[in-house]
This record gives sequence, structure tokens and C-alpha cells, in this order.
Amino acid sequence: MTRYGRAILRDVEAYLPGEQPQDPHVIKLNTNENPYPPAPEVLAALHNLDAQSLRKYPDPLSESLRTACAERYGVPGADWVVAGNGMDELLALALRAFVDPGDTVLTLYPTYTLYETLCAIHGCQLRYVPLDDALLPPESFFAEKARLCFLTRPNAPTGVAMARAEVERFCNSFDGVVVIDEAYVDFADDHCMDFPARFENAIVMRSFSKSFSMAGVRIGTAVARPALITEFLKIKDSYNMNAFSQAAGCAAMKAYDYMRERALKVCATRERLRETLLQLGFDVPPSQANFLLARCADAPTATRLFGALRERNILVRYFDKPRLDDALRISIGDDAETDALIAALREILAKD
Ligand SMILES: Cc1ncc(COP(=O)(O)O)c(C=O)c1O
Repeated sequence: MTRYGRAILRDVEAYLPGEQPQDPHVIKLNTNENPYPPAPEVLAALHNLDAQSLRKYPDPLSESLRTACAERYGVPGADWVVAGNGMDELLALALRAFVDPGDTVLTLYPTYTLYETLCAIHGCQLRYVPLDDALLPPESFFAEKARLCFLTRPNAPTGVAMARAEVERFCNSFDGVVVIDEAYVDFADDHCMDFPARFENAIVMRSFSKSFSMAGVRIGTAVARPALITEFLKIKDSYNMNAFSQAAGCAAMKAYDYMRERALKVCATRERLRETLLQLGFDVPPSQANFLLARCADAPTATRLFGALRERNILVRYFDKPRLDDALRISIGDDAETDALIAALREILAKD
């Protein structure tokens, strides 16, 4: 950094999780986007925004969206929900609301890489507890102490979901705030949305980027007891949700069945791809998300496959990090994209 920087800024790589090409010939399976379009109601809501709603500032409290989410999530009211400019904004706000610089924040390893960046920016310590060989939290995790814990369920980039009963046990024993990151939960067997009502320290966060196919719109929600939600409202930017995202978010909540149907399709493709990858010799943990972690024999094999797929215009994600450098994280595409990926992998492996 320059002498004016704080030397903690993420490197440019972090803004580009894999490449972001607009080329329609590229099969983009590197950022866990949804291959299907958002509900027609979402597109209609965007088209129908009139001059008035653009001329005026948006509702600073996103009341309609928060009410629609509260109804859908089955929590008492809008005061149990806060909306953010993507879940990423809410993750940063959680640190600012509940953690002092210098404090310790807990998470598991490997997990979502942004937590580390956010902690570095905030000036707090991130303590990683390594997952066990089954990619689940070890017993020692339940005795940890910290101001806040990021618990990703299903986890990324593994796709593995720890048991709900274990999250419950953790919320009971942990004396800080537990942020349950449910970015991928619509592809999972169950969820923890009932936890805020049962645990005063639980915050459940959701993203519209994956299951709702709305990564470009930027909407995330956090659900917790009103006492915690108030802390977010105190520190968020006044107009953190623009008119487009509020309108699109309300429409998405109404078109919930459309999302569920597409999510089930993604899950079916995920299982088909997993079977094939296992047959091809990869080790693939069971995933409850919209991606698979395909482990190869070793790190050189993984980098070689990553490069060979890229030469064929297929982008997947490679993490040059401990316990991940022998694997490829592959987002679930539509059937044609999945067939193309499988054909490319067969071709590359046949040359070995
Ligand atoms: C585990 C996890 N949490 C949160 C997010 C951020 O979601 P959003 O697009 O809503 O900011 C992601 C995005 O990839 C993620 O993988």
C-alpha cells in the first residue's frame, strides 16, 4: 500500500474470486451463481419502478422488504430483520456492532474467506479452529471463547452442513454472538431460522445471491431478536438498500415457490455431478450447497485440471490455501454446462 494506506486492504485478487468474463462462450462455474434466471415477478418489479421511486430517496428502513421477509421466515415482525447490500455488508456490520478492535472472533477452517478480510479491516483477531477429517467441527470448538463466531452452514467451500443439533449445542455454550451464515441454505435439507427465537445470541443471515439468482441485485438479510437488530440499524448507512433492491427483494419473497423449484433442480444436478465425479476418481464430500468440492490426488493435479479446464473456457475455483490446494470448487450449472464440464474432465483425464 501507499504510505496513506492501513496495509490491511485485501489484494485485488479478493475482488475477483476467479475471473469474471462476460464472454457468453465461457462456462462460469467459479462464483456459485445460480444458472437459472430470477423469477419473472422480480424482473417485472424492476421494470415497473416509476420516476417517483427513482427521484426520491428509498425507504431507509426497507420496511416492506423486512416485513415480507419476517412473514416468509416465520419471525414475529420486521423488527426481527435487517436488510443489507448483500450479506457481505451485514457480515461487516456484525463486526462493527458487536466486536471491538483487538477482540477475538472465532470461525472454523476452511470456511468463507471474506471473514478473514473483514476481521483484518476491523482490527480484530480471527481465530480458526480446524475442521476434522469429516469436515465437521472438532469437540474442542464447543469450549471456545470469543466475542463473535461466524458459523457457515452449509459451509463453504466444503458444502458440508454440520448437524442442526450441533449448532444448537454451540449457541447454548458460546457466550458471544453466533452469526449463522445461511447463504446456501436453500440447497440444504434443513435450516436454523427458528434459532433467533430460541437463543438470544443467534443471528441467522441469508443471501439472495444464490438461490434467488439475484447476485447482481445485492440483497442479504439478518434475522435476530430486536435488541440485536437495533444494533445493526444504528450503524448501517442511511440508505443502504436502493429502490431497485427493495422492489426486487419484495417481489422475490412473493415468488418463493419459483425459487424453491429452481433450487431443487440445482440440487438434482449437484447429485448427478457428484456421482460422476466420484466415478472419475475424485473425492467429493456430500454437499448441501450449490457447489461441490472435488478433491484430486494432490495439489499439482488440481492446478493442472484447473488450467486445462480454463483452456477449454470452463472456469472453476481454485484456492491456493492449506487443505484446499488439492481441490477444485465447482459451482452447479445448468444441465448443458454440467454435461460440458463432465465431457471436458473425461477428455483431460483420458490424456493422463
Ligand atoms: C458463505 C457465504 N456467505 C456470504 C456470502 C455473500 O453473499 P452476498 O452475495 O449476499 O454478499 C457468500 C458469497 O459467496 C458466501 O459464500
